[in-house]
Amino acid sequence: MHRGIAVLPQGLEEAGAQELIALGAKAVQPLRRAAAFEADKPCLYRLHLQCRLPFRLLRELASFPCDGRDSLYHGVQDAVDWERWLHPSMTFRVDATGTAQGLNHSHYNALQVKNAIVDRQRDLWGERSSVDLEEPDLHLHLHLGRGGAVLSLDGCGGSLHRRGYRAAMGAAPLKENLAAGLIRLTNWDGTTPLVDPLCGSGTLLIEAASLAHNHCPGLQRQFSLEGWADFDNELWQDELARAKHRSQKQRPLAPIIGCEQDATIADQARSNIAAAGLDDWITIQTGDFRNFSLPPGPGVVVCNPPYGLRVGDGEDLESLYSDLGTTLKAQASGWDVWVLSGNPGITGALRMKASRRIPISNGGIDCRWLHYQVR
Ligand SMILES: C[S@@+](CC[C@H](N)C(=O)[O-])C[C@H]1O[C@@H](n2cnc3c(N)ncnc32)[C@H](O)[C@@H]1O
Repeated sequence: MHRGIAVLPQGLEEAGAQELIALGAKAVQPLRRAAAFEADKPCLYRLHLQCRLPFRLLRELASFPCDGRDSLYHGVQDAVDWERWLHPSMTFRVDATGTAQGLNHSHYNALQVKNAIVDRQRDLWGERSSVDLEEPDLHLHLHLGRGGAVLSLDGCGGSLHRRGYRAAMGAAPLKENLAAGLIRLTNWDGTTPLVDPLCGSGTLLIEAASLAHNHCPGLQRQFSLEGWADFDNELWQDELARAKHRSQKQRPLAPIIGCEQDATIADQARSNIAAAGLDDWITIQTGDFRNFSLPPGPGVVVCNPPYGLRVGDGEDLESLYSDLGTTLKAQASGWDVWVLSGNPGITGALRMKASRRIPISNGGIDCRWLHYQVR
């Protein structure tokens, strides 16, 4: 069994833990902005291919007590068989989080790990690996805390939120993994209409359709775990085939519709939807939501209106929210409405009473995923 950490958006720790369990991970424990898990190798591969919510997955390589600079240096040298894991022909990078006595700066701590590794390599081979911050062959992560150090491998090859379908981003787009998590929290299952009246580049709609179809987000991605010393290509191919099979099963979905007033952004949403292979399932209408009619429902409305911190400055946000509330009350009787709000002062203008308020961090902005049951 491998021990691992899924790094998650703040607020999606429980949902992220549920996703890990559903994909077969064991001993899953939600933490702050993360969830710990254990997985055998097939499961670890499956998580990389199929998880939607994490930014990254870390696999523990070694752990050792650490109470200062020397114990970090020697721990790194001794706890891992570097002859096996990092030949000088391979590049690497080290990231660090957490602190220990005398080790309060992540950048310094990462350098200390790097120095320990390259010194060990020089002893073994008389030469050392180069650092590559962009596309390293081996991506290491150090976490310090509670008197110990954990050295992990990041096998993702870049943040998992980058699914590859979004060349065009509109204004203030949601990260794809966050959007997937928000959809998960709605419990939408594809059998009722889903509408985003302020859809921007279409991220919520794309992640919803992708979720409903079980499209595996990792199928097009190059994972750096494929270069690990203990990479098992046969197991990987099995998991890849399993993920492809899961992704190919299409089922009928209720209408998925977006509305966007900015014609350029609406076109960007359409091209993102096409790039995700979902144009048969999602329709984008260009126009103001005030002139838009919901399809026969009930269904689910999701939206991420401007809230003044990133886009919408200078706009009359108050009347936008007030008109959104009026439109929803008039048209969405029986629907579930979810609004991502980063501005508590403005959501009152909806004049609707939220039945749930789930704290979520959206790129560092403290937001609420507000659930309204329009009756
Ligand atoms: C915060 S962005 C949504 C971002 C989106 N969730 C994404 O991931 O790309 C809000 C969007 O609402 C659009 N918008 C603002 N007022 C609107 C209106 N009255 N009708 C329709 N769209 C509107 C803006 O053009 C902007 O693209």
